[in-house]
Order: sequence, then structure tokens, then C-alpha cells
Amino acid sequence: MPNASSAEPFSPGRRRFLAAGATAAAAIGWPGIRAVRADDFVLTAAAATKRLEAAHGVPVYAYNGSVPGPELRIRQGRTLRVRLKNRLDVDTTVHWHGIRIANAMDGVPELTQDAVAPGAEFEYGFTVPDAGTYWYHSHRFSFEQVERGLYGLLVVDEAQPYPVDRDIPLVVDDWRLTGDGAIDPLFGDLHDISHAGRLGNWITVNGASLPDIDVATGERIRLRVANTANARIVTLHFRGHSPWVIALDGQPVAPFTLGGGKLTLAPGQRTDLVLDVATAAGSRTPIDLVDQRGVLTIAHLSARGDTGTARSDPPPALPVNPLDTNLDLDAAIRAELTMSGGAMGNMQSARFEGRQMPIRELVEHDMAWSMNGVAGMGEAPLFTARRGRTVIIDLFNDNRWPHAMHVHGHHFRVIERNGEPLPDSPWRDTTLVQGFDRIRMAFVADNPGRWMLHCHMLEHAAGGMMTWFEVA
Ligand code: C2O
Ligand code: CU
Repeated sequence: MPNASSAEPFSPGRRRFLAAGATAAAAIGWPGIRAVRADDFVLTAAAATKRLEAAHGVPVYAYNGSVPGPELRIRQGRTLRVRLKNRLDVDTTVHWHGIRIANAMDGVPELTQDAVAPGAEFEYGFTVPDAGTYWYHSHRFSFEQVERGLYGLLVVDEAQPYPVDRDIPLVVDDWRLTGDGAIDPLFGDLHDISHAGRLGNWITVNGASLPDIDVATGERIRLRVANTANARIVTLHFRGHSPWVIALDGQPVAPFTLGGGKLTLAPGQRTDLVLDVATAAGSRTPIDLVDQRGVLTIAHLSARGDTGTARSDPPPALPVNPLDTNLDLDAAIRAELTMSGGAMGNMQSARFEGRQMPIRELVEHDMAWSMNGVAGMGEAPLFTARRGRTVIIDLFNDNRWPHAMHVHGHHFRVIERNGEPLPDSPWRDTTLVQGFDRIRMAFVADNPGRWMLHCHMLEHAAGGMMTWFEVA
């Protein structure tokens, strides 16, 4: 049975969260994440214990003993080599989310590699074509392994350093803890699968509960915001500040200001912000998570000094990445993709493991979603594209639930939403599709191999919302 927290996301956690916050004194710098600059790196996945509140050690899965795993940093165009050592007692893989990677390194079990068995190792090696903010995470039983802690940030540095005073990660995760502070062991619950996914009751930022992020008044900081939650759509409000958006899912955009506005990230998405610290030295300014139920402070910007400067000039645009943005819409191949299922949906049956099954039988296999009538990875690709062809996907989200649609190996643009053309939409690897939305996605299929397209609400993916395509 799902615990009460899935129906009431914040209430149980909030009480404990605020209690913990009162004693959460932060060290210098930002808590939680160790950054490493390395071209060669060993990533060991193993069981560990993590402190989420003063008195509790929570059993987790961790890369190199920490959640998030180390922040891997590498310069654009370089080759990253990471040796994964699996010291878990289950299979795992690593997926490098948003990297336009060589297919064999994409980390998808069955499609691009064999899962790495307990005790075994796998050598990932790939060049990083695009600068920006990416992340890595388990792609094996990810609804369980990511929730248990197997994720980290991957930062690809621009050739020229971007002019800010500090570069700070803001990795937001959502945990579902039981009353005694353990990770709720009920993974892949059918209620979560068929509704909004596994929503938690405890929020961490950079793996810490209500951390203080040290800054100074007048500083210009780059905040690399990532939503690593299984399913929660995260909307943030930076009180007292007007951050600029400079990149989405790693790809630069013409800088625009949020004003006093809010920032929404679907699971898997990243946003790079430039924030000029405007609050007085000595002050602590909340970063709030906002939803229909209210506001929860998840971190503070703590101004520990004053640079004596004040800025408000727009930040410079990031240099563009070598992404093929020349969509040839007239010559494009087209694929239709209808997503059905979920609670209160109209799916009667779907094909699963080669057989047509009525919904009753599907749910016995924990399947609640289909793409073009197929639950889970079908035998046939959604489409096959010759390398270099433009692809248009006409996607119809034929159910009431929002979904975070993620394409592997490519970035795409949403060129039309509900009939309305979107000439200036950004390049992304993950987009949020609302209930009953129709969108038209387009990209140049220039990366050969077999690639997944799935919902990044990890319970939805586990419940059937995944497919694949081939670039040959
Ligand atoms: Cu970040 Cu297929 O996932
Ligand atoms: Cu979904």
C-alpha cells in the first residue's frame, strides 16, 4: 500500500523537514557535492548510509559513497572515461542524460549494452560535444535505483570560462521516506505507476536537507538547477531575486529574466541560471518550492559578505553548441505517437511482450501505459531514420496526466503545441507535455544507433511508457 504521503506530498515530511532545518548549520561553501575535474574516473556504485536529518542514517545506493554522486566536470570536446564498478547486489548501468553520446555508451540495458552484474565493471568512454549542465544516473530499474541515490551532475565546461563569480549546483531531489526515516521500500507501486509517479515527502538540495548556500552580496552566480526526482515536477521561486535563464537542458538560450517569476523543471530537466545576489550581507534568503498546496523552503542563499558591487546588466549569451539546428521540415520523416493509459484513462488493451492483453492482465504485469498501443519496449522501432534526416514526431498525450518526454542521443525542439506554431522554442532533451496536449517535436537524427524515447517520470516508464527508434 502507498503510504499517506503519496496522497499528501508535503505534510509528514514538512514537519520533520522544518524541525531539521532549525539545526541545519551549513559549512563554508555548498554542502553535499564534491566536484572532480578528471578525464579518467572510477565510479563505484555501492550501498551506503546517508544522513538526511540529524539523527538518521538512511540506507541508500551511492556513487563513491555520496548522494548525489561526485559532480563530474570536463571540458567541452574532451573524452570522459569512467570505469563503473558495480558493488551493489543488483545489476546496474549508467546513462549520461543529455549527452549526444556514442550509442554504445548510452547505458540502456538490452538496447545499448548488457547490464553490469554485481561485482562486474564497465568502461564508459565518450566525447562530450556540448558544453552545459547534464547528469548521470542508473538506467537499470531506475525507478528504484535513482530513488535510492544513483545520480550525479555532469558539467561540461565551455572552452572559455563564463564570467561569473561562482558556479553552484542546485540539484533538487524528492524522497519518499517512511515514518521512521527510511526510504519507503515499496518501489514500482501500481498506484504510483498509474497516477503521478512516486511523489515524495522529503526534499533535498545537493543531497542536503534545507542547506545554506554561501554567497556574497553583489556576486554574480551561475546556478545549475537539475530536477533528479523520480516524478515530481518542481517549481522554484528565488525570493528577492530576478535570475536570468541562460541554458535549458545544456543548450544555451538568449538570456531572459524570470523577473520575480518561477522556474519549473520536469523530472530530468536542467536550467542554468545567472543570479545576481541582491540581498544584504548577513541575510538568508529562501529558495522555495511552490505547488498547489503551498510553499516549502528548500534552501537558503546565505549572504556572508559584500563585494561592494551591484549588477543588473544582462549576462552574456553562452556560445552555441555544435548541434545541427537546420531542420528540413519539408523533407522530414514523420512518426505519430499516441500515449494512452493511466488512472481514469481509456486504454482497454495493449500489446505487451508480443501479446495483446486486456487492461486487467496488463496491470498484473504492472503495465499501465502504452505508446501506439504497445506497453514497454516493442519489438519494432517507432521509426527508422537515415542519418541526417529531420524527424517530426506528432505526439498526442491521450490521457489526463502530464509527462516528461525524454529523447536519448539528441536534442529536439517542440515546433508546435496544440496547433500553435512555436518558432522560437528552445532545444531540449526533455519536455513537459500536459494532459491531452498535442505537440510536434522535431530534430535532426544525426546520431546513429538505437535510442530510447520515454517518460522521465520513472514509474511511468516502468509501467510501459517507453519506446525506441533507430538512426541508421
Ligand atoms: Cu535520464 Cu532514459 O533517462
Ligand atoms: Cu509520464
